[in-house]
Amino acid sequence: MRQFKLSRRMFLASTVASVAFAGKIANAATPKDAQIENIIANMSLEEKAGQLSIFADGTRSNNPNINPAAAKQGIEEVKEQIRKGTLGSLFSAKGAEGAREYQRVAIEESKSKVPLIFAADIIHGCETQFPIPLGEASSFDLDLCERTAKMAAFEATAVGIQWTFAPMVDVARDQRWGRVAEGAGEDTYLGNQIARARIKGFQGGDLTSETTVLACPKHYAAYGAVQGGMDYNTSDIPETTLRDVHLPPFKAAFDAGALSTMTSFNDINGVPSTGNHHLLTDILRDEWGFKGLVVSDYTADEEMIKHGYAKDGRDAAKKSIIAGCDISMQSHLYNLHLPDLVKSGEVPMEVVDESVRRVLYVKKQLGLFENPYRSLDPKREKTDIRTPKAIALSREAARKSAVLLKNDNNILPMKKSGQKIALIGPLANDKYQTLGTWAIFPDYDNAVTLEKGLRNQISNQSLIKSVKGCEIEKPISGGIQKAVEAAKWADVVILAIGEKQEMSGEAQSRVEITIPKPQQDLAEAIAKTGKPVIIILSHGRALALSGAVKDANAIMCAWFLGSEHGNGLADLIFGDYSPQGRLPVSFPVYSGQQPYYYNHRPTGRPQGPKDERFYKARYIETDNVALYSFGHGLSYSKIEYSKPNLSAKTLNFTNSIRASATITNKGKRTVKEVVQLYINDNVASLTRPVRELKGFKLIELAPGESKEVSFEISATDLAFINHDLQRRAEKGGFTLWIAPSSVTGEAVGFELV
Ligand code: NOJ
Repeated sequence: MRQFKLSRRMFLASTVASVAFAGKIANAATPKDAQIENIIANMSLEEKAGQLSIFADGTRSNNPNINPAAAKQGIEEVKEQIRKGTLGSLFSAKGAEGAREYQRVAIEESKSKVPLIFAADIIHGCETQFPIPLGEASSFDLDLCERTAKMAAFEATAVGIQWTFAPMVDVARDQRWGRVAEGAGEDTYLGNQIARARIKGFQGGDLTSETTVLACPKHYAAYGAVQGGMDYNTSDIPETTLRDVHLPPFKAAFDAGALSTMTSFNDINGVPSTGNHHLLTDILRDEWGFKGLVVSDYTADEEMIKHGYAKDGRDAAKKSIIAGCDISMQSHLYNLHLPDLVKSGEVPMEVVDESVRRVLYVKKQLGLFENPYRSLDPKREKTDIRTPKAIALSREAARKSAVLLKNDNNILPMKKSGQKIALIGPLANDKYQTLGTWAIFPDYDNAVTLEKGLRNQISNQSLIKSVKGCEIEKPISGGIQKAVEAAKWADVVILAIGEKQEMSGEAQSRVEITIPKPQQDLAEAIAKTGKPVIIILSHGRALALSGAVKDANAIMCAWFLGSEHGNGLADLIFGDYSPQGRLPVSFPVYSGQQPYYYNHRPTGRPQGPKDERFYKARYIETDNVALYSFGHGLSYSKIEYSKPNLSAKTLNFTNSIRASATITNKGKRTVKEVVQLYINDNVASLTRPVRELKGFKLIELAPGESKEVSFEISATDLAFINHDLQRRAEKGGFTLWIAPSSVTGEAVGFELV
């Protein structure tokens, strides 16, 4: 235990009432290291504040619009800051040569000689793009998630990046929120598994390796719970829900070795995350023993002024450093105010030193003191990006991430010859709409559109007629007429519609999560031709589908599948592979149902059979159901599930029971099946979700093959955060399903005694 311990009450007194700091700092437990202690002992306060500051590097960024202020800086200006020690890390740029020179200045010309870390948002690939994270979560394929993160790290380190601001592990239960695209969807259990896999992929077994990056699970915390799904909004969230739903993926990521995290923009119950001592210190450090560093989101410390939580920049700097935010991103507040805050006694030197210690500890774990030029090798930049292996992985990830929602009369897969295809829609052949929201270094030239992917696989090119029909958000004069003519000529229509990639991601919340009107009009006109229609949706969230889109013969969720978008889709459309994707978010019937998530708690008036509609929990316009619920997704075979079988009807707190089911492929194709285990706690001291995912297994089944799939269940799997904020299982009855989605399967009961 360190000498200073700041209780929550003392913290409130020292910040809210702006009295001088008095009390103890939390138990940070950063391991002491002679080299690090020596550096800290010789640093000026200004250098310490610099070590705790990160800035966007506009000199090597390919997108000056992201950080306009940084884009104005010249190389010499940046070097001067490094020399003076007023920054400790740079982000949002690439280029090994340039980074090497900045690193040389840091270790040769600055007084403290502390190496820099170079960071960037490597979210779903670096040079080779993989599906957006939400899309990839649909694969339910943890090995895939680990391999794409590993490849992203391989490419990132080839272009001089050592720290990624990923994975985003925010649980997102409201599809209006644009950033749902960046995470693993609405479910905590799935989120935990994917967080773990991505951390393993990014960081590997050895953080000092030239090909691994420091991961940064973000945004800590409850950013996915912003009210109304509006980005940056407030979140009011009971501590039980916070701990039960939103925090576990962070804990899973830290347990997997993640050594940094980023604060979120939102406030929780009135306290902005960046100034939230309870989150950043009480939980993160004291309870979980996190030894890594905390970075603020972009100017999130300064934004506490607009939140109405800090009266000015100085107050904001004080509140965030005391809360436990080690690094200030982009606001300059630590440079500007930390030295004086320490001199005036408002912030103890120990607080600042502890943050510097954490940052230096992480730099040491990355091997930067031994090898400051780690991952800054200009040769690799030429040989290690967009390798055939990376492209093949991108294609594999693309085809494993698409979800087949509907396939009437087995219209999919299609034959590669003998059928005339009208490929219609604004998302059929637009390279700018393939990579997804966070392709930070996009290579649009090499992006494979749906049209390109389909054409790559057929020999008679005249079998495809391609017509745009409309723009994503605007009609084209005469566009629908041309599209209808193409549909009449064709045997089948493939309609590529949905959102543009800028409709999801940061600051891209939507009120209506629907297909934009010009495209809906296009779909209605095509439907009137009576030709069979296959919809291929591009999107960064679950959508509320209606009319001719909902009624199409087949619907495939294609998200934004990355560099190999079109090739991956063509692999599925022509049946070289069967879809394995399952929904990580529920598709509602209407936008107005948001937030809709499958694992909601039961009401006292759940809706019964159709004739019992009044005074029940439902809407006038729709039942309280999803159009396509979490976990849903079809393959190209008919798969049957037996009723689950239990090894015993009771378990206690020390043993476990086995639940198993036989899964049979009744079709004619080898397919992958995502076998899902759900549980409901029948009666508890706090009401529990109608169903909760507790396990899943991805299996392959040959035609006619049956496999027994089993899950071990112990009391730990049944535990939840109770009223006393303890994770505990409670005795009593439970219901269990082994099923292909969150709303199907036969139920069996068991008891915890
Ligand atoms: C703001 C975003 O919220 C965050 O996710 C990102 O990592 C930072 N900007 C840095 O680019």
